[in-house]
Amino acid sequence: MTNEHIIEKMNLALGWELRAVNMYAHYSANVRGIHRLQLSPLFNTEMTESLTHADIVRKAIVQLGGVPVTERNSHPIIHTTNYIDTLNYSLETEAKAAEVYAQLLELIGKADEQDLYDSIEQIYLSELRSLEELRLVVTES
Ligand SMILES: [Fe+2]
Ligand SMILES: [Fe+2]
Repeated sequence: MTNEHIIEKMNLALGWELRAVNMYAHYSANVRGIHRLQLSPLFNTEMTESLTHADIVRKAIVQLGGVPVTERNSHPIIHTTNYIDTLNYSLETEAKAAEVYAQLLELIGKADEQDLYDSIEQIYLSELRSLEELRLVVTES
């Protein structure tokens, strides 16, 4: 297993984080109705978390001798002001993040990179927490 594979997968994760920053910022500003009171701060928190994740992944890529991507993942960010739609698109994004980090952990596990494994695992676990929270929010009863 070469660092190249790991760097490639980390860049995929970084692209999704950069997309998440934009998406959550957009929904935080645009969500309408009474649910805005709770969802706007929630999306802001997710935005900040994505920035933090992007920073960790970016620096790890550099440490491995790679060049971090500067563009977000091209998966469309759909404009909506409807709170249910914003939640479903958030759920989709967190599921994708969890999937990419799971694949990345598998790659790093095969290499001998314990420190890197630990920091990526922390990110992976926080994606899982967000995913579970969103699932509870989306299914009210
Ligand atoms: Fe993240
Ligand atoms: Fe996330």
